[in-house]
Amino acid sequence: MDLIVARNRADLLAARREGTVALVPTMGALHEGHRSLIRQARVRSDQVVVSIFVNPLQFGPSEDFSRYPRTFDDDLDVCRDEGVDVVFHPGVDDMYPPGRQVSVSAGEMGRVVEGASRPGHFDGVLTVVLKLFNLVRPDLAVFGQKDAQQLALIRRMVADLDVPVEILGAPTVRESDGLALSSRNRYLSDDDRKVALGLSRALRAGAAQLTPDKIRTAAHEVLAQAGPRLELDYLALVDPATFTDVSESYHGMAVLAVAARVGSTRLIDNVTVTLNPS
Ligand code: PAJ
Repeated sequence: MDLIVARNRADLLAARREGTVALVPTMGALHEGHRSLIRQARVRSDQVVVSIFVNPLQFGPSEDFSRYPRTFDDDLDVCRDEGVDVVFHPGVDDMYPPGRQVSVSAGEMGRVVEGASRPGHFDGVLTVVLKLFNLVRPDLAVFGQKDAQQLALIRRMVADLDVPVEILGAPTVRESDGLALSSRNRYLSDDDRKVALGLSRALRAGAAQLTPDKIRTAAHEVLAQAGPRLELDYLALVDPATFTDVSESYHGMAVLAVAARVGSTRLIDNVTVTLNPS
């Protein structure tokens, strides 16, 4: 079957077939990380829909909405290559007709960690994701663990608002040297890229420890070694379901998350760690 490109709601409706539908929401500039999500969607469904929409609502006024990479023709090649059935690529006016008032609030969990650095970001993410769910009506949707707080909030929204969709999480895809793939990596110069490696190195160093204090100390040491070009935004060790800081006596799985600016590019990464195993 040829790839169908749906540019509005009517096209999307016409493309719908019988059977299980899986949605992979993206902002385009597709890379191996997105491909792995598409593959997971493929094996679980009869029809795979990939949405490509750079969502203005989730960018702050001083953020990179206008310079976010837009590589639609290459993205279509990736989708064809991966056997995607439908690419949903609406315009901003299709998604947000004038007069819009109502949106989703991510609550307190949207204001901590990444949300503290990017006010309103998760409200924008949840609003567009709920709209995509309502437009595509998928049986399941796949999101990356790379954006761990986003994934946790989408699970929260689906539970809190009784959204009839199954959410699948997919592991973070990395370069062989550890750098997490990101659409924003293309902004990095060769020198920036070396500095950016400090993020994944710090997470690995932290994950080798077993208690919160030691994890934070080990990760901070490696971040400091990356030098002043790596401007740390936060390093946080949090409960994976709530994104609140863990206490020294916490047992079980936690998320070690980091955000930093390298030059003008802001990068995030995270790993899962097991604390105080008995
Ligand atoms: P985007 O950054 O394009 O990411 C789309 C999906 O790909 C997300 O679920 C993200 O977690 C996943 N992803 C990105 N890099 C990855 C990697 N290295 N390994 C595995 N998965 C990876 O996240 C968004 O877009 C937007 O916020 C969106 C959910 C589309 C709402 O606008």
